[in-house]
Amino acid sequence: MPMRVLVLGSGAREHALAARLAAPPDGAEVLCAPGNPGISQVARTLAADLGDPEALLALAVREHVDLTIVGPELPLSVGVADRFAADGRLLFGPTRAAAALETSKAFAKAFMARHGVPTARFHTAESLEDARSVVRSGAFGFPVVLKADGLAAGKGVVIADDRAAAEAAIVAAMGERRFGTAGDRLVIEECLSGPEVSVFFVCDGARALPIGAAQDHKRIFDDDRGPNTGGMGAFSPSPLVDGPLATRIMAEIIEPVVGGMAAEGHPFRGFLYAGLMLTSSGPKVIEFNVRLGDPEAQVILPRIDEPLLPMLAAAAAGDLRQRTCRLGADRFAGVVIASRGYPESSESGRRIDGIDAAERVPGVSVYHAGTARRDGALVTAGGRVLTVVGRGAEFPEAIARAYAGVLQISFDGMQYRRDIGRKALGYRG
Ligand code: AMP
Ligand code: GLY
Repeated sequence: MPMRVLVLGSGAREHALAARLAAPPDGAEVLCAPGNPGISQVARTLAADLGDPEALLALAVREHVDLTIVGPELPLSVGVADRFAADGRLLFGPTRAAAALETSKAFAKAFMARHGVPTARFHTAESLEDARSVVRSGAFGFPVVLKADGLAAGKGVVIADDRAAAEAAIVAAMGERRFGTAGDRLVIEECLSGPEVSVFFVCDGARALPIGAAQDHKRIFDDDRGPNTGGMGAFSPSPLVDGPLATRIMAEIIEPVVGGMAAEGHPFRGFLYAGLMLTSSGPKVIEFNVRLGDPEAQVILPRIDEPLLPMLAAAAAGDLRQRTCRLGADRFAGVVIASRGYPESSESGRRIDGIDAAERVPGVSVYHAGTARRDGALVTAGGRVLTVVGRGAEFPEAIARAYAGVLQISFDGMQYRRDIGRKALGYRG
């Protein structure tokens, strides 16, 4: 009997997870809630409210699910892991308290300070007056970085070039409450510089297993111009993370984090994703996420060269025995195709053509995010619509294949970056 797995989420990250778990060597029977039209080709999709732990547990019980794997942060932030644990059901993802590494930047920064984890110098302001006086003091110089404490859909970070810009950001967050309660506390920190890399781990509460590094492309336009997005593309591995750096990241950052969470009574089980800046004085944490990234998952998962399901099941049970995770030699580049207007707004309902043709390009996989079926046709349904991933022995081949796939796809208003993976070709910082 194959294991029955429930994946929670509906994006390209969850499509990549579901596709990976359904295929050999795992060959799981995959259910996905709520899923999307792409996911329904590899999994049975079920309606679900990701903000309702009780309903998610009822779904897992009703469907006799052996292991639940959480894609996005929302269910974790409302305690889905706690609810499943109380019922003795296996779920891979952190408890609500452990998820605070992502859901509260103030918690994450104070935690790092307690455990000596390298990160930008900071102050957490509890009031507008406090924030203003810190900025006026110039304690962190300029530019200065201001971060809403809570989840703000990727929009809560401002890099202010001068005092006036910083004060305007403080007023927006704490005066006008632009991010709601997420902005009631503000982390003010020094601006670091250096290339950014993302590193990923499978954690069982006591140990962390490295599963790869990636670099993403957050801005909407080529050459990192325009507003921040959820991510317009990614590549893996990162040429910047060599063996010695990986060892250093493990010793200086990941082991203290996993050890510290356990020591504080909140052992971390789940995917841990650390966003790092490689500064002249070593790697420093920019942020933690308590899940896989999107689009990073789409280029990280295919590199894992061994069964994924037993690894995640063991970690969920708190008993990860393996010490290393074998990664394949191939390179992956993932290009996100978004709708016109993204990230400010996004159109929906445009007919999408060419996905089958893209998937026939050798080495290409297409993962759905904002897609829907309408009268039998596939149409757009949101900002980020698809991720097209190319695989190759070297980056130029992986990138060329990804774009050969993209060129097969068309819908009115589609936009994508032309420079995904370029950084992998010859990094000059
Ligand atoms: P975050 O939501 O914390 O990932 O921040 C979004 C982006 O802001 C990061 O990917 C960085 O590019 C940038 N950023 C955040 N914190 C800092 C910092 N202390 N110094 C420089 N850039 C930062
Ligand atoms: N790509 C960034 C994220 O998933 O948070």
